[in-house]
Amino acid sequence: MGNLTTRVASLELANPLILASGIMGETGDSLLAVIEAGAGAVVTKSVGLEPRKGYGNPTLVELEDGYINAMGLPNPGIDAFREEMRVACGAKVPIIGSVFAATAEDFALLANRLQEYGAEAVELNLSCPHAKGLGMEIGVDPGAVEAIVKAVKGSISIPIFAKLTPNTNRLMEVAEAAVQGGADGIVAINTLRAMAIDIEARRPILSNKGGGLSGPALKPVGVRCIYDLHEAVGVPLIGVGGVETWQDALEYIMAGASAVQIGSAIGRKGLGVFAEINEGLSEYMERNRVKSLKELVGAAHE
Ligand code: DHB
Repeated sequence: MGNLTTRVASLELANPLILASGIMGETGDSLLAVIEAGAGAVVTKSVGLEPRKGYGNPTLVELEDGYINAMGLPNPGIDAFREEMRVACGAKVPIIGSVFAATAEDFALLANRLQEYGAEAVELNLSCPHAKGLGMEIGVDPGAVEAIVKAVKGSISIPIFAKLTPNTNRLMEVAEAAVQGGADGIVAINTLRAMAIDIEARRPILSNKGGGLSGPALKPVGVRCIYDLHEAVGVPLIGVGGVETWQDALEYIMAGASAVQIGSAIGRKGLGVFAEINEGLSEYMERNRVKSLKELVGAAHE
């Protein structure tokens, strides 16, 4: 067996596969199911200060090579989330708490609560592509991103990962601002702004009209962002977008990611995708006499 362990800031992971935020991260039990399937770490659904119902249906469109979603950040609010974290934190795999907010103060407060609940890192959602005053509306502004990360840094001691949007021509500036503010890692990318139209109804399908594209169609965009980020910033990178096979994971790793996140692939292939990718990575390493996955991080730059 090749050594699949990896390190992202101070987190030591048994393997590089992390559950992406937004899928199966709503409850303690669903997080445990993903851990049981072999994830090296899991990210919760993004949590805010207050309970939020999200948008009405339809919230998801299934395409040949991905999904378009606009859920609207449904979540039970930070108080109720304590119980889900209590259940999930029983497992011996890091739980990364994802938070969204409109202000730096609220980000700091939420991150602090998740740390108190047992999260081993927080992921700042600076990239949801369709929520007024939240997500990428803030996450395309380097000054705002730096201020948010700085405020969070002052309120917790666990690592901070900034999840960034590809829906900007300023990704490198935003990433540099996040690092300047104290980010311990960058997560790239969130979904691409997208839309699907019902041609019989002559209307957008999603109730929110616009949504975010995820799945295999996104992979080359994500790999390019990670490749460029590897040259631009010195902190660990987590690649996300369309990882479905061990070959996809390796592309991200060779571009510069120390770990990858998996989301849509669970919907398309089931939870077995974690074991399948880990096995494929391990076999690749044996075939190529690679002792540690860490040797492959950024290999495409050499
Ligand atoms: C949602 C979508 C996102 O891409 C995101 O980052 C956060 C939330 C949503 O629709 O709930």
